[in-house]
Amino acid sequence: MDGIILKGGAVLEGTVTLGGSKNAALPVIISSLLSADKCSYRRVPGLRDVSTTLRLLSRLGVTIEKDLLADGHLELTADKIHELEAPYDLVKTMRASFLVLGPLLARFGEARVSTPGGCAIGSRPVDLHLRGLERMGACIRQDHGYIEARAKELKGAVIDLAFPSVGATENLMMAATLARGETEIRNAAQEPEIVELAAVLTGMGARVGGAGTGVIRVEGVPELHGMEHEMGPDRIEAGTFMVGAALTGGDVLIEDARADDLKAFLAKLRETGVRVTPGPGGVRVTGNGRVHGTDVATQPFPGFPTDLQAQMMVLMAVADGASVITENIFENRFMHVQELNRMGARIALDGNRATVRGVPELSGAPVMATDLRASVSLVLAGLVARGATEVSRVYHLDRGYENIEGKLARLGADIRRVQRDD
Ligand code: UD1
Repeated sequence: MDGIILKGGAVLEGTVTLGGSKNAALPVIISSLLSADKCSYRRVPGLRDVSTTLRLLSRLGVTIEKDLLADGHLELTADKIHELEAPYDLVKTMRASFLVLGPLLARFGEARVSTPGGCAIGSRPVDLHLRGLERMGACIRQDHGYIEARAKELKGAVIDLAFPSVGATENLMMAATLARGETEIRNAAQEPEIVELAAVLTGMGARVGGAGTGVIRVEGVPELHGMEHEMGPDRIEAGTFMVGAALTGGDVLIEDARADDLKAFLAKLRETGVRVTPGPGGVRVTGNGRVHGTDVATQPFPGFPTDLQAQMMVLMAVADGASVITENIFENRFMHVQELNRMGARIALDGNRATVRGVPELSGAPVMATDLRASVSLVLAGLVARGATEVSRVYHLDRGYENIEGKLARLGADIRRVQRDD
């Protein structure tokens, strides 16, 4: 398994270019199932989660015409769907596969999708997806680890989500595009990825209003057509490089980053004493000596994103003073804490709260993590640790970061990927 080896101490400087957003790309690619026409996407990130999604779509019968890895251009045509089942082996490696349920059910009247099960960061149920589809008239059965859903025709409904789940909002929004009548999703997720998916659906002929607010209304249409779309920049990748700049006292322009998609995060970054300058070309982050501790609590958008919690914790680990980090979205998203403590951090856990007492420096160590954002937080920690850090199990990183070692090296980090036989 590959590892990443880095030596701490470099100051990150220069410009970094972001890839297309992973969390927008996955539902957008899956939305191609809603039409028999060709859908063309650009700036698709070359990530493991994207290849997993493509493997699933190809198994269902979607024709994939462009080689994604070549230049991020992808053409998908779902005119010969011959399989309505998403198997366990693909859904278990990536929960976003569950998003095929809504589109398949809406277009073909039935679907069988493996239940995702838990993962490193918590139990992550799909009850909100299922209750919503039931409200739209679907008959849902759970059997042998699979969800089987049937509906001759989905009907518009008022769906009140108990929690603004990103995945449930996406699944229901896609299903509603082909339902009869109007669907109203209340307490909908408001993440920028929802807005991007709504724009794609609208481009396909869907009638979607309110995306980006707490109430989304979808007026069903009989069929959707093809469209072209260029993915927006990955805001979580942007935030990750911003923390890198802040940690190392560097000066980095994150090209294309959109400040509006990261408001709560940028406000916290400023509170730590870092200079954040949004401009037409992106957002520039300039370190300014040792940062100050600040409290952070993750929340659904527009709150502080859970996907940047682990990275922020590294910054707090070397800050002047103490901070409390509260994780409100996932029940077990502190996998990085033990490893950061092995690197000399002083972090105490109490339920969903981590108290971080800043230390002047971390020390390099062999570390590993079992989820994507925890893994990247260890890479960030390695940037400011004395000596060498080796992060193993980097396949987690490859799920969500394209060539992170190359991008960090170009900014001046001493970092390389190594191949291990274990
Ligand atoms: C998406 C993102 C992920 C991000 C998360 C929260 C993608 C591919 N992934 O994941 O990176 O961390 O949003 O911003 O876009 N829940 C239920 N029942 C449900 C659905 C969710 O209880 O039916 C709970 C989950 O267990 C979790 C919380 O709601 O505690 C948030 O989950 P959700 O917003 O659905 O996250 P994902 O869509 O899985």
